[in-house]
Amino acid sequence: MATTENSITPHTLIEKRRSPRAFADKPIAANKLKALFEAARWAPSAMNEQPWRFIYATQEDKEAYERLLSCLAESNQVWAKKAPVLFLSVAKKEYDLNGKPNKHAWHDVGMATANLLLQATELDLHVHLMGGFDAEKARTLLGIAEGFEPVSMGAVGYLGDPDELPENLKQRELAPRQRKPLEELVFKGRWQQK
Ligand SMILES: Cc1cc2nc3c(=O)[nH]c(=O)nc-3n(C[C@H](O)[C@H](O)[C@H](O)COP(=O)(O)O)c2cc1C
Repeated sequence: MATTENSITPHTLIEKRRSPRAFADKPIAANKLKALFEAARWAPSAMNEQPWRFIYATQEDKEAYERLLSCLAESNQVWAKKAPVLFLSVAKKEYDLNGKPNKHAWHDVGMATANLLLQATELDLHVHLMGGFDAEKARTLLGIAEGFEPVSMGAVGYLGDPDELPENLKQRELAPRQRKPLEELVFKGRWQQK
């Protein structure tokens, strides 16, 4: 993509958002937590189906929190267990209207989740999403209904001290964020055309 002299940098919320592993020992106020799901609620979706569902647990509710935590891969549990809130996003696989498969469901759950992440950033919170979890365990333990599919889990909280992480995770926490160059991702008019 041609660079222009006056290139515009992404919104500060997009720049500030990242996926930390060090979380502070500080709860999230109920109104802030609600604001995250409210932001998700306003995402666009195919046929305005709103196929997203979220199951969350706070550390105050030990039993519910442990249930969600136990669905995570061990490698994620190590650090995610410090986050004051965990959640699971779930997709409804068929349209309410006609029962036909909604092939956009995962896409739309992703958009709702992206809204949630940016709202979190605005509130000085961070979210670390995780695909490393046992979807079947989540389905059983959390009583997820037929026709719904677990999508991703998230750990939410305030930034913590990287020094409290095991050494290997600390290195990753402090490493600069990487992205593929725009030229590799964006084509003009047809596939791979610059
Ligand atoms: C769907 C999805 C699944 C992910 N799964 C994991 C995971 O299981 N464990 C983990 O530590 N990070 C996971 N991540 C976080 C990514 O590694 C992270 O977003 C990526 O490295 C970019 O870093 P950034 O979010 O700080 O910009 C996941 C992210 C997404 C969106």
